[in-house]
Amino acid sequence: MTAHKSGDPTTLNRLYGRQSGHKLRPGQQELVDRLLPALCVPEEGDITAESLFGHDHPLHFEIGFGAGEHMAIRADMLPDHGFIGCEPFLNGVVGALGHIRDKSLPNIRLHMGDALSVLNRIPDGSLSFVYLLHPDPWPKARHAKRRMMNKGPVELIARKLKPGGEFRFGTDHPVYLRWALMVMNGHPAFEWLAKEPKDFLTRPGGWPETRYEAKARRQGHEVWYFRYRRI
Ligand SMILES: C[S@@+](CC[C@H](N)C(=O)[O-])C[C@H]1O[C@@H](n2cnc3c(N)ncnc32)[C@H](O)[C@@H]1O
Repeated sequence: MTAHKSGDPTTLNRLYGRQSGHKLRPGQQELVDRLLPALCVPEEGDITAESLFGHDHPLHFEIGFGAGEHMAIRADMLPDHGFIGCEPFLNGVVGALGHIRDKSLPNIRLHMGDALSVLNRIPDGSLSFVYLLHPDPWPKARHAKRRMMNKGPVELIARKLKPGGEFRFGTDHPVYLRWALMVMNGHPAFEWLAKEPKDFLTRPGGWPETRYEAKARRQGHEVWYFRYRRI
C-alpha cells in the first residue's frame, strides 16, 4: 500500500491502496502500450472539453472508475459529451481500455492516478457531472481522512461543477453512508435531489450499475444512490 501525504486535502496525492494486481496478458499490455498513450489526459495545462475533444460539449468526470463499465456505458449513451475518468489501479485502467476499444468510444480520456490532481486542473464551473461510485470505505475511524467524501474534495467538486451540474455518489457501506450524509447534509453548494426514499434506495435511470455495486448486491448488501445538484 502507498500513502502519500500532503497538507492540502484538495491537492494531495490521495493514492492509498493497491495500484496493480495480477500480471497483464499480452493483449492487455498492448492496450496499455498503444491505446492508453493516445487517451491520456495531458500532463500539463488546463483541462477543458475544448482542449481534450475539440468542442465545448458537456464534460463528465469519474473518480475511481474501477474497471470502467459505468463510464463506458455513460459515454456510449451520450456520444456528444466528453468523459474524463481517473483510476490509479492498472488492472482497472486495462478494463476501461477494453470497453473503449470494444465500443469504439472516442469521447473518453483517462488518467491513471489520483483524480484530485486532475480535478484541480479543470477550470472552475466547467463540469456537468461528477461521479463518485463506491469509493474505498476506509471504515476505521482513524482512516476517515482518507475517504474521498471529505470537506476538501467535496469543496473541490463543488467548485468544478457548473451551476445545475450533478454530483452522483453511491455506496453500499453503512459507515460511509453515515459519514457522507454528515459531509453533504446542509452543504450550501448542493441540493439533494431525493424527494422520497425510493429516490435513494433504487438506482436512478441513466445510472449504469458498476462492477462493485453488482458484487455488493450479490452479497446481499443494500445500495444507496445520491444525486446532488450544484446550486
Ligand atoms: C471500491 S472501488 C470502486 C470502483 C468502481 N467505482 C465501482 O463502483 O466498481 C474504489 C476505486 O477507487 C479508486 N481510487 C482510490 N483512490 C483514488 C483516487 N485518489 N483517485 C482516483 N481513484 C481512486 C481505487 O483504485 C478503486 O478502484
